[in-house]
Amino acid sequence: MTANRYTFTQRMLHWLIAALVFGMLLGGLTFWALGYEGLVDRVGPQVTANLFMYHKSIGILVLLLTVLRIWLRRRDPAPPYDPPLGLVERLVGGTTVLVLYLLSIGMPIGGALATSASGYPVQFFGFELPGLLPENEALGETLFFYHGLAGLALALVVLLHMAAAIKHWRLKDGVMTRMSLP
Ligand code: HEM
Ligand code: HEM
Repeated sequence: MTANRYTFTQRMLHWLIAALVFGMLLGGLTFWALGYEGLVDRVGPQVTANLFMYHKSIGILVLLLTVLRIWLRRRDPAPPYDPPLGLVERLVGGTTVLVLYLLSIGMPIGGALATSASGYPVQFFGFELPGLLPENEALGETLFFYHGLAGLALALVVLLHMAAAIKHWRLKDGVMTRMSLP
């Protein structure tokens, strides 16, 4: 029963990153819906500045944890499916997971590039990281547009991923227990 599960560390990391990504998408949705001015009007400049600082910091944390996760997955490869999955399921599942990994890495890098191109500080909790690009307002706007679009794509892929997980959970075919904590 334990042979076809990810290691405990991999499972912990999955749920930690999932919780952080949910928070990032929720925060991003708030930024998109209210905008900077709208947020300042509602919660004041200090809380707004903190929300942006935490969005940037947690985004960079997601990048670091995902790199750690990929390293661990290379060390301890994904366990075999028991019972085995069909070809279509393996292809759709594999593509979904690949896109999740790509966006978990691409979104923080894109966010940091957009932030420095717009002339804002790239904050990581108490630290300010070096800007990755010189200030260029037009480029910053374009990069933030793609940052938002990638956020939408990530939200859709996460929904697909969750729907598949729920389907497997109801089927009780062991796929959910590969990643569940208990
Ligand atoms: C409630 C939400 C979620 C549920 C129920 C869930 C469930 C699962 C399950 C059961 C697996 C194992 C699939 C398999 O072995 O074929 C898995 C794998 C995975 N999940 Fe989630 N997940 C959720 C949220 C997320 C989120 C938000 C992310 C975003 C980063 C994510 C990223 C991944 C990745 C990258 C894998 C593949 C792991 C690997 O093979 O290296 N999951 N998830
Ligand atoms: C998992 C990683 C990340 C996710 C899922 C994410 C998601 C989002 C989303 C959905 C938005 C709203 C887009 C919009 O307003 O058009 C947003 C805005 C923003 N993101 Fe991220 N983000 C991530 C990482 C980062 C990082 C690492 C930084 C900077 C270092 C960053 C900086 C920003 C800023 C400054 C905004 C506000 C843009 C604006 O108001 O025009 N993000 N993010």
